[in-house]
Amino acid sequence: MPDSPTAAPGAYGSTAPFLAKAPPLWVPMRHFLAAAAAFATFAAAFAYGAFGHRLAGAQFQARFALGLVHTLTLGWITMTLFGAMCQLAPVLWETSLVAERAVKTAWWLFMIGIAGFVGHLWTAGDYFWPAVPVAAAFVLYLYSFLRTMASAKQLDWTGKHLALSVGYLVVLAMLGLILAYDGPQGRLLNDPESLLVAHVHLALIGWVSLAIMGVSYRLVSMFSLSHLQSKTPGRVALVLVNVGLIGLAVDSLFFGRRWMALWAVILACGYGAYAYQVRQIFSARNRKLDPALSYTILAMIGGAVWAVLGLSLAFGWLPNDSDARAAYVFCILLAWITPFILGQIHKIVPFLVWLHVYSKGWKPPARLPKMEELTLRPLVWAELAVFAPSPYLGIAGFLAESNALLEASAALLLCAAILYLANLGVTMRHIVRKVS
Ligand code: HEM
Repeated sequence: MPDSPTAAPGAYGSTAPFLAKAPPLWVPMRHFLAAAAAFATFAAAFAYGAFGHRLAGAQFQARFALGLVHTLTLGWITMTLFGAMCQLAPVLWETSLVAERAVKTAWWLFMIGIAGFVGHLWTAGDYFWPAVPVAAAFVLYLYSFLRTMASAKQLDWTGKHLALSVGYLVVLAMLGLILAYDGPQGRLLNDPESLLVAHVHLALIGWVSLAIMGVSYRLVSMFSLSHLQSKTPGRVALVLVNVGLIGLAVDSLFFGRRWMALWAVILACGYGAYAYQVRQIFSARNRKLDPALSYTILAMIGGAVWAVLGLSLAFGWLPNDSDARAAYVFCILLAWITPFILGQIHKIVPFLVWLHVYSKGWKPPARLPKMEELTLRPLVWAELAVFAPSPYLGIAGFLAESNALLEASAALLLCAAILYLANLGVTMRHIVRKVS
């Protein structure tokens, strides 16, 4: 991505080859907008659950919580990752997105699937068939992404992370479908717990965290204007995270979860190596902290808390009950993954709009707006300030079974989601203005 629209004249010509390979604006953008809607829906539903005391203690409603989890994991997180992969193809692999039409069809199937799956979870219907369009959408996305990667001249470091993470997506979706078919009646499985543990970790570590790790080496370096000196910590992280994850999944599926403490230690060391690599990127940066980089730091802190919670569950320092597990999943989703996504999206969306709306057809001496002018920075700082305490109040709320803490967490998250929508609106106005 070109770094700043204030670069010397002529430098703008450099966006032309990129634009020639980039997918049309609405291919990635529809994913980011749908994801924002899912984030806001999650925040509203979480508030409904927290204020209605449906999320902790004896009144815990499992299906409602499962719907919440998949609004966030499918609607917010996976939708964003798919959008980012569409957008990143020309940046990472210098090639165009292959089978664009398959991606557009996949997006519709995915939207229908999420609405059906979550809708049935929340209305007590059988949720296996509604999940099938989600899996079908995954097949179409994979068809496009794998063909795109295959057409790349070479698969760089980030590409290798993404290739692994889409592999984990296939396995987690199969396990998810089996769990959905098995349902509360237990049609197939003697020990659904073993599949659930594998599904959760393949999803949150294999699919999401590996993709985040790979993308962060590229994007965080780019946004902080930092050059990566050594990739050794990142390589160590990649090996440890894969060994820990595969060990955990195989142990859970076939050996009755005997060595969970060992996998937890390996995974925590993997996270440590990754954090060390990101720290190196940050210390070599040439840019002041902005909201996007601050969100990334927040995510790194959340990742460390996640590792501590994971070790505590594996070593029995925390009781392995539904509240501690809820705290663990909530921490991964809200303290680690969500701030990372928010940070990157606050850079990616203004960049995309600037690129497609302003840089196309620009000729000197006309003035191009700076990319910063496409956002309202104080509003983004306000969003960050409101968001930051919310995951930790939620984690404490689950651990202490405190509805008051959950309510505080939910209220802040809802405010943050509203501010996020407002911030997106500020940027999207530039498209509307240009079109009208
Ligand atoms: C085809 C797609 C998917 C299907 C059909 C599916 C299905 C399911 C089902 C049925 C459960 C509950 C199992 C039980 O309690 O017995 C579950 C749990 C879970 N899934 Fe998925 N899933 C899918 C994709 C994903 C993805 C992409 C993620 C994350 C990125 C994810 C994260 C989770 C988590 C964290 C839980 C545990 C929820 C909790 O215990 O609170 N799932 N999934």
